[in-house]
Amino acid sequence: METLDAIKTRRSAREFTDKKVSKETIEQILEAGRWAPSGMNNQPWRFIVVSDKKTKEHLAKQTHYEDIINFASCAITVFYDIDFGIRPYKGRSFHRRMRTEHASCVTLSWLGACWLGEILKNKDKVAQLFEAPASYELMAVIALGESAEKSRKGERKGMDELVYKWI
Ligand SMILES: Cc1cc2nc3c(=O)[nH]c(=O)nc-3n(C[C@H](O)[C@H](O)[C@H](O)COP(=O)(O)O)c2cc1C
Repeated sequence: METLDAIKTRRSAREFTDKKVSKETIEQILEAGRWAPSGMNNQPWRFIVVSDKKTKEHLAKQTHYEDIINFASCAITVFYDIDFGIRPYKGRSFHRRMRTEHASCVTLSWLGACWLGEILKNKDKVAQLFEAPASYELMAVIALGESAEKSRKGERKGMDELVYKWI
């Protein structure tokens, strides 16, 4: 599929079939994320992949969107490691706000997936649940599975509303 088509036809999936997403597919998604760009190439993202049903249920309890996680085959939790880095860049970042941007770069995927941001209200509880290092800050949870939804058209603002000036 052409990249632009893939971007335009991708929709968030909130209902999933029972089919398990294979380890190879999850690895491919992580591999795409691994190659995301980052400031100073510091690659601050860290993942915790949750396929285990019981753990997934515990994670799901931390969000209003519990069903989406429970029905998903797995959940990829994306953390920002504030102690990230490869020497000589260790621990350096241009700006704190870039944490979110980094998490966004790495969180695109092409399977049935839904980005869950609402769960961030319990980000510390999620980090605790996984016994994540103290330097890990939760940025996003992605519910992943084979979509059980019919393809649907998305809606976006018009270009005239988004492009404020073209100078
Ligand atoms: C940062 C972010 C947080 C989101 N959080 C949630 C969420 O907590 N629950 C949910 O059902 N969808 C969530 N979504 C999905 C959006 O609702 C969805 O992307 C948007 O409505 C556009 O629909 P589309 O992805 O199908 O094109 C989130 C998306 C983003 C990018």
